Amino acid sequence: MKILAFESSCDETAAAVVEDGRSVLSSVIASSLEEQRLYGGVVPEIASRRHAEWISGVAEQALAQASVTMQEIDAVAVTAAPGLIGALLVGVNYAKSLAFAADKPLVPVHHLRGHIAANYLAHQDLQPPFLCLVVSGGHSHIVAVDSYTDFRVIGRTRDDAAGECFDKAARAMGMPYPGGVALDKIAETGNPKAYNFPRPHVDGSEYDFSFSGLKTAVINLLHRAEQVGETLDYADVCASFRDRVVEMLCTNTMKAADEFGYRTVVLAGGVSANAELRRRMTALCEQSGRKLYMPPLSLCGDNAAMIGAQAYYEYLAGNAADSSLNAAPTMPIDKVVWG
Ligand code: KG4
Ligand code: ZN
Repeated sequence: MKILAFESSCDETAAAVVEDGRSVLSSVIASSLEEQRLYGGVVPEIASRRHAEWISGVAEQALAQASVTMQEIDAVAVTAAPGLIGALLVGVNYAKSLAFAADKPLVPVHHLRGHIAANYLAHQDLQPPFLCLVVSGGHSHIVAVDSYTDFRVIGRTRDDAAGECFDKAARAMGMPYPGGVALDKIAETGNPKAYNFPRPHVDGSEYDFSFSGLKTAVINLLHRAEQVGETLDYADVCASFRDRVVEMLCTNTMKAADEFGYRTVVLAGGVSANAELRRRMTALCEQSGRKLYMPPLSLCGDNAAMIGAQAYYEYLAGNAADSSLNAAPTMPIDKVVWG
């Protein structure tokens, strides 16, 4: 089954053709990131405008690169939640019109389910059940993936997402948006023990995260240094900060894997590209005899291939929509309802 999938929830306008949820026939991404950098973050209006300008072009390219015609496509899929509402609406309306005009089923996909499904494209043997740490610019979740379409949230962030926390700390050190990538690179040359940043504690659920206290601690350190004219070694700051974020992500994930008896652990989302997170999770899973799956770096960030992968399983589960489909800026991964 060949699915033409679209992703437009943030600043990437993407289209892809994916076969049977596992094989990428084409994947095209146009990004407004360079333009967004001028403003230090994503300006929703700019993202929506670029999506509207680019979406038909990326659709044509995805079909051409896969060497398939619209007639050979079996279904149209689209990210319909969560994300920036104006940005989502461009993809949803385009996919709705295309599905209607070409008389194909329309399959809405939850963005975070898509991030998890990126792993199916790279690891043909991976099947639920497994425990997944989903870490992106907007979300940080520990999710039990019971089947391809059944999810349970075990832990979540109470404030900032991990990616947001990386980006804000990086911004305070003058790195361009999204700073998570640059911070990760600089951290490789620093000493992770140089600064003793706090380990924010969350009352209530032992699997929940809180990153805002850590972010504030870094910003305070930078401001204090500026006030007294002290020069900080940013490599050490980045390494110490990254170490703490990764420690919190790994500790809670492994605790949940122990408690709920998961032998397979999966990483997903933009932050799963983080070098220290990948190293630490690899070591922890090796020590505890667990299997670890991570998306290749090319599939960690937003793309439409991951949406096509998840769409296949949503379609098999009967989760298609009609032309009344609307986009939703927020929607929990475990309570997906389209209307
Ligand atoms: O999943 P994603 O592409 O978009 C959302 O759905 O949010 O995630 C983007 C986030 C950004 O916050 C970015 O800084 C972060 O992922 N990110 C990283 C790294 N690469 C991307 N954070 C830390 N280390 C990285 N290597
Ligand atoms: Zn994403």
